[in-house]
Amino acid sequence: MRETLMFYGEIVRRWRVTGAIGPSGPVLARAMADAVGPVAAGQVILELGPGTGVFTRELVRRFPAARVVAVELNDRFAGHLRTAVPGATVVNGCASRLDAHLAGLGCTAHDVAAVVSGLPLLVLPGDLPRRVFGSVAGALRPGRRFVQFTYSQKAWRRFDATGFRPDPPRRVWRNFPPAVVLPFTRTD
Ligand SMILES: C[S@@+](CC[C@H](N)C(=O)[O-])C[C@H]1O[C@@H](n2cnc3c(N)ncnc32)[C@H](O)[C@@H]1O
Repeated sequence: MRETLMFYGEIVRRWRVTGAIGPSGPVLARAMADAVGPVAAGQVILELGPGTGVFTRELVRRFPAARVVAVELNDRFAGHLRTAVPGATVVNGCASRLDAHLAGLGCTAHDVAAVVSGLPLLVLPGDLPRRVFGSVAGALRPGRRFVQFTYSQKAWRRFDATGFRPDPPRRVWRNFPPAVVLPFTRTD
């Protein structure tokens, strides 16, 4: 409940980058983790826009041998996550700088098994969506997964996902609002 109230507070404070009417639910979190694909021990799962940590907790639970790195722009969410999900590494920064964040952790794209995104990519300002997507492409080797969720699959059809192959989507009705998990595989 406290986390939900915190999320609503940040919607009011920073609507454009929070980009949702509430935190995601556990059913969507499980569907996002289902789409991640194989992860070897010690590999990194990058989570973008973790908010209050609904997906982060599920990723840490589902992939205990991996390193979950959560990249969050909002300093309040990042501060909260550090204590709320101690099993994750929290980076307070922008998802458009994944190369720098990985380097700061002593990692490269070679170490990254998948990227899971809760970012409101379709509503972020200016050229940020394009820069974030380029950053994700740079962080993933061919064959690895990028997992996004959306409330509007139709709007996503207009998004230029060059460098990625879309995999079959999965609708999650038991979320408010209902959402769709969009998995992509990095191509050459
Ligand atoms: C729609 S909320 C999703 C939160 C959480 N994943 C969930 O599903 O409940 C989007 C999150 O992305 C974060 N965010 C927005 N722009 C970002 C950026 N450029 N880099 C990192 N995080 C960002 C916001 O602060 C917010 O926590």
